[in-house]
Amino acid sequence: MSLAAVPVQAASGAPAAGEAILRRQRVRESAARTYARSFPIVPVRAHGMTVEGADGRRYLDCLSGAGTLALGHNHPVVLEAIRRTLDSGAPLHLLDLATAEKDDFTSALFESLPAEFAARARVHFCGPAGTDAVEAALKLMQTATGRSGALAFTGAYHGMTAGALALTGNVAVKEPLPSGGEVARLPYPYGYRCPFGVGGEAGADLAATYVERLLDDPSGGVVAPAAMILEAVQGEGGVVPAPDGWLRAMRRITAERGIPLIVDEVQTGVGRTGAMWAIEHSGIVPDAMVLSKAIGGSLPLAVVVYREDYDGWRPGAHTGTFRGNTLAMAAGAATLRHVAANGLVERAAVVGERMAARLRELAAELPVIGDVRGRGLMLGVELVDPAAEPDACGARPADPALAVRVREACLARGLIVELGGRHDAVLRLLPPLTITDEQVAAVLERLAAAIAAASTGGPTGGSANGSAGAPTVRGNR
Ligand SMILES: Cc1ncc(COP(=O)(O)O)c(C=O)c1O
Repeated sequence: MSLAAVPVQAASGAPAAGEAILRRQRVRESAARTYARSFPIVPVRAHGMTVEGADGRRYLDCLSGAGTLALGHNHPVVLEAIRRTLDSGAPLHLLDLATAEKDDFTSALFESLPAEFAARARVHFCGPAGTDAVEAALKLMQTATGRSGALAFTGAYHGMTAGALALTGNVAVKEPLPSGGEVARLPYPYGYRCPFGVGGEAGADLAATYVERLLDDPSGGVVAPAAMILEAVQGEGGVVPAPDGWLRAMRRITAERGIPLIVDEVQTGVGRTGAMWAIEHSGIVPDAMVLSKAIGGSLPLAVVVYREDYDGWRPGAHTGTFRGNTLAMAAGAATLRHVAANGLVERAAVVGERMAARLRELAAELPVIGDVRGRGLMLGVELVDPAAEPDACGARPADPALAVRVREACLARGLIVELGGRHDAVLRLLPPLTITDEQVAAVLERLAAAIAAASTGGPTGGSANGSAGAPTVRGNR
């Protein structure tokens, strides 16, 4: 669909039916509903980066199912794989039995992984969500090491089930629940809001030194853990890329101490960061990788891939009913191959850099933009209060209220952008890897206009269903 067909107020729809659906959703679905609060729209059709709502409007989708839709909505390659599988009569649900589709997906997955890792890897198919694969990875390493605790980082997001939530940093979602798991929390190298008040490479070096010293301190309070888990770029934590040197330090520190390293690539995988897998930027080889989201080609699929030496599980050690989704495996294999064969990884790197450069120019014009960061097509714009005093690193306080107004102003301009970050003040851009140059221009134009409108205090142009004041805890975090 060309951008010419994506005016803000274009498509036909059924606004009244949409309103009724939204009304019923509000009274029938749980208070924990999340994105539905941020985006009170009823999508009826979607193609590529464009979502058409029942309100008759078209939106450019920069959320992409929280990074799931590497090829955008309903990509022909994905649809063809699904149709072919449906027409073949293959069983759609198969627990963990062997199928040609699973065999092919496993081949496509292993071909996409760094050769050194794939050469000695095993894969375990999990329940179809990232959080279940995180649980599986932790259990695997607990079984292999005979230890129970884990090392995880500030700002981490690993999922919503008990074990994964224990590894997650977000206090707001953890606070109401009984504490779970023994997790030592370590500082993630967040340059803009440096845990050591230093910033830059120096802050990352301190973060690495702190981890090393803490683990070696007999009175440091950290019992030998089953694993360390980290994201190479924190997504929900506010689009914070870890420096490559810090990642290499984590690999060295864990290897030297016999601590398995799990890298959670649920959000960063399949080209998103300008490498097929985010670990490739630093060249580290982890002991396990947790994969989900884009690997299913928009359908639910999650796996843990790990070094064969850790395969000490007994049969049934991590079972589950929905581990054999034939359609997801066909869609996932097609996606992995299409991304690799069509230069989409390289394009994500180039287009992401171009978008980041334009966003940095915008930051020079708009003082509410405190920081622009990211890798590939995983970009974050942190909004701050320009009138407040900066801290020692030059960072001003986050402005979550402004961020909500910007999200609303984006939606009013036909742009879907979600928030994230420690203070819910980071605009997160996760467009599909297939984004066209025309769409890049439209996204940046709409975003700039939305930030300008929202920060001057004028009307955001938001709809009556706007989400200002919605609770700050959303589903993916
Ligand atoms: C890095 C990371 N790990 C794990 C998860 C959990 O995945 P799911 O929502 O499929 O359970 C997410 C979800 O956003 C994520 O970003």
